[in-house]
Amino acid sequence: MALYSEKVMDHFRNPRNVGVIEDANGIGEVGNAKCGDIMKMYLKIEDDIVKDVKFETFGCGSAIASSSMATELIKGQPVSEVEKLTNKAVAEALDGLPDYKMHCSVLAEEAIQSALEDYRKRSGKDI
Ligand code: FES
Repeated sequence: MALYSEKVMDHFRNPRNVGVIEDANGIGEVGNAKCGDIMKMYLKIEDDIVKDVKFETFGCGSAIASSSMATELIKGQPVSEVEKLTNKAVAEALDGLPDYKMHCSVLAEEAIQSALEDYRKRSGKDI
């Protein structure tokens, strides 16, 4: 069996939603101290809906694929749903990741939660 699923390879080769949102109202940046990978997530939230999301990932292929898939999963979703996004859901949507690469999907979950935290602070909302 191939180490990586077709979906992982697809999102790694053609990542969706890469870039910066200049007028983002929620920005989160996280890193993994062990591997040194860094992920930055930009959210544009209007009426409690994620209208747009973009990311920049300096990291491994699984981290890029995880961020890409995570952005696809949350785009257009209400904040209340995005809050529940777990790294497991991201990995499952990618048809799985090798065990030793699961932490790459954790980075995506953390980057999104960190961006939501920033959104809450900026908007003074206690969601
Ligand atoms: Fe660390 Fe992938 S090896 S995020």
